[in-house]
Amino acid sequence: MKLYGDKRLKPITLDSKIPDERGRELPAILAGIPYDHLRIALEPECAAVYLLTKEVPSVSSSFRERFPRNEGDCYIVADLGGGTLDIAAHRINKNHKYDEIMIPDGGPSGGNNINFKFEQLLVSVSGAQAFLLFKDKNSQDYLYFMRTFEHKKCGFPGDAGKKSVTMLMPLTFAERHIEENHETLKDSVRQTSFSQSVVLIPGKITVKNSLFESFFEETLVQIEDKLVEVMERLSKRYNIKAIFCVGGFSDCKLVKERIKARFSEKHLVVIPAEANVAIMKGAIIYGRDERLIETRISKYTFGLDWNEDFDPKVHPVSKQENTDDGYMCKDIFKVIAKVNEPIPTNRPTQTFDSYVKTASQTAMEFPFYRTLTDPPPRFIDEPNCYFMGSMKVSLEDTAGGTDRFVTLKIYLGATTLRAEAIDNKGRTHRVTFLLGQTQV
Ligand SMILES: Nc1ncnc2c1ncn2[C@@H]1O[C@H](COP(=O)(O)OP(=O)(O)OP(=O)(O)O)[C@@H](O)[C@H]1O
Ligand SMILES: [Mg+2]
Repeated sequence: MKLYGDKRLKPITLDSKIPDERGRELPAILAGIPYDHLRIALEPECAAVYLLTKEVPSVSSSFRERFPRNEGDCYIVADLGGGTLDIAAHRINKNHKYDEIMIPDGGPSGGNNINFKFEQLLVSVSGAQAFLLFKDKNSQDYLYFMRTFEHKKCGFPGDAGKKSVTMLMPLTFAERHIEENHETLKDSVRQTSFSQSVVLIPGKITVKNSLFESFFEETLVQIEDKLVEVMERLSKRYNIKAIFCVGGFSDCKLVKERIKARFSEKHLVVIPAEANVAIMKGAIIYGRDERLIETRISKYTFGLDWNEDFDPKVHPVSKQENTDDGYMCKDIFKVIAKVNEPIPTNRPTQTFDSYVKTASQTAMEFPFYRTLTDPPPRFIDEPNCYFMGSMKVSLEDTAGGTDRFVTLKIYLGATTLRAEAIDNKGRTHRVTFLLGQTQV
C-alpha cells in the first residue's frame, strides 16, 4: 500500500484513456461511451454462448442429441478469423454454466494469409518494386483486384468440372510490370517455377486449381497443428466432446474439410451455418447475462503493492520503513490471483481490510501489478513485474487514527480487473483496468 500523493504513480479515473492490447485507445471510448458502461466480451466465449443457447435455432436437433451438455462435458471453440485463429475451451459445470479450462490460445493463422500468398505470387512474377508501384500509384485498381481475388477465394473450389480460376486483372498492373521489368508478363511468368500453372496476359490471370489450393496449405497446416496440440493437451485432463468452429474463415470449404477429416472420427465437429455472425449474436446474449461464464483461468499472476510488519528474519533492511505503527516492510508483491488458476467471474477474487499507515493519513492508494514470473516475485520492483494502475481512496477525516481501514474487493474473473473500496464513511470507490494494461 502507498500513501496518497506519491508522485511516481498516476491515478486512474473512469474517464482515463484506456489502451487496447496494441496501445491504441479503445474505439468505444473514442466514441464517447463511458468506461463504466463498457463490457469487453471475448469472441470465442460469445460463440460458445451462442451455440449452446437453446433458444437460437442455429444448430440441428441431432447436434443437441449428440451433445446433451452433461456436467463435465468439455468443448473447444475455434474462432477462425481474417487475422488470427483464437481457441478457447470450456467445461459445463453443475449449474449448466461454463468454466474456462485453459488460457485462450491461437496464432496468426487467419484467412487473410491466403491473400498474402497470392500477392507473393504476383511479386515473384513482377518483383517487389513493380508490385509496390501498382499498389501505391493505382491503389483503386489494387483494391479492385484484391476484391476479385477475395471473391474467388471464398468460392474456391468451385464447380467440380473447372480446372482453374480466372480473374480479371487491371491493365495498370501490366503497365507497371513493363515499366519496371522491360518485358511482358507472359515472358516473366515463363521464368518462374509455376510457369505451367499460371497464364498471365494483360487484363486477365488464370491460376490452375492445384496452385490456387497451395495458397491455403500453410495456413491449413497451422490451423490443424494448433488444434491438435490443444486437443492433445486438454484430452489428458478433460473429456472433450466437441469442436465448434466459428468466424468467417470457417465458411471456407477447404477449412471445413480439413478440420472434419482430422477430428470428426472421435469428436463432434460443429460448423454452424451462421459461423460468421455467431460471435456477434453470442455477444448480445452474453451481454444480457454475463453469469453464463462462471470461471476463467487467470492469464497472469496479479498482485498489490503491500506493507507488512517488518520482520528482520524475513525481510531485507532495504525494504524497512518507519511508520506510526512501527517498522514496516514496504514494496511487497501481495498475490491476489495466480496464473493458470481458476477464478470466479461473479464474486470477488479477494476481499480484505487495509489499514492506514499513519494517524494523519487522509487517503490510501492501491497500486496493482501483474507478472508471469513463477513463483511470483517477493517485491514489486523486481524484473518482469508490471505496474497496471492505481486506485486512490480519499478518507474524509482522521477520527479513529490508525484503526481506520478500507475494505477492498478485487474482481479478476471478468475481462478486466475491477476493484471496489469501501471507505470509513461507507462510500464505494471503483476502478477498472484491462488485464494486460501497463502504466509507465
Ligand atoms: N467462404 C469463405 N471461404 C474462404 N474464406 C472466407 C470465406 N468467408 C470468409 N472468409 C475469410 O474469413 C476472414 C474473415 O473472417 P472474420 O470476419 O471472422 O474475421 P475478423 O473477425 O475480421 O478477423 P479477426 O477475428 O482475425 O480479427 C477473411 O479472411 C475472409 O476472406
Ligand atoms: Mg474475429
